[in-house]
Amino acid sequence: MNWQSILSSSIGRKVVMAVSGLALFGFVIIHMLGNLLIFAGPAALNGYAEKLESLGEILWVARIGLMVMVVLHIWSGLCLARENRQARPLGYLGKKNTRTTFAATTMAISGLLVLAYIIFHLLHFTFRVTHPQISHLLDADGRRDVYTLVVLSFHELPIALAYFVSMILLSLHLSHGFSSALQTLGIANESSLHGYEKMGRLIAAVIFLGYSSIPTACWLGIIKASH
Ligand code: HEM
Repeated sequence: MNWQSILSSSIGRKVVMAVSGLALFGFVIIHMLGNLLIFAGPAALNGYAEKLESLGEILWVARIGLMVMVVLHIWSGLCLARENRQARPLGYLGKKNTRTTFAATTMAISGLLVLAYIIFHLLHFTFRVTHPQISHLLDADGRRDVYTLVVLSFHELPIALAYFVSMILLSLHLSHGFSSALQTLGIANESSLHGYEKMGRLIAAVIFLGYSSIPTACWLGIIKASH
């Protein structure tokens, strides 16, 4: 089976969506653990950012891999949403009482809103165009002061709130995506699906708490600026 036949079949696209989704899920967990270093202070977070940067080409390979996963995930998701609409010309009129959840029925919209968040997030922290006055500071050791950028950004209520709401949407998306991907890949079957659904919701709740604790703690002044 070649790439063309995988991408042109409906089940192939579902597998692409599941694999890319699980890869992005892994990134979200690793990124959260890295970001939580902010609770250990400026040296820990800035040192971590510096170490990542020093990976050089390896970091770029990871970034390109991440970008490919994002593109594949969005493309396969949009194809699937279109196929579902075409298979249901009467909308939900003929729908029987199938078991579904709010997270499952809002996957396309929560996914697109998370994408909008990611675009803003990259402009904010990676390309550093939204807060130029605090984006290029250096810490006492001459490193890029990622800590101060994050803390001072979240002193602005609209920014802290936007992140908080985005983390609700992200965890909603992941809470269904996890078990759905495992089902597509045949890892979750009829008897184990319920357990994986619970596991997905639990991991999504941990992801929400982990990420949202950062804007919350900065805004409340629990994490203080070092400058
Ligand atoms: C409170 C929540 C978050 C904080 C404080 C945070 C913080 C950061 C920071 C500081 C950077 C820049 C790192 C650097 O340039 O050294 C970054 C990059 C990035 N973040 Fe986040 N992040 C958060 C949530 C997320 C979420 C939920 C996602 C994805 C769904 C995400 C995806 C990314 C991506 C793709 C990059 C670019 C990575 C790279 O190019 O190396 N972030 N984040």
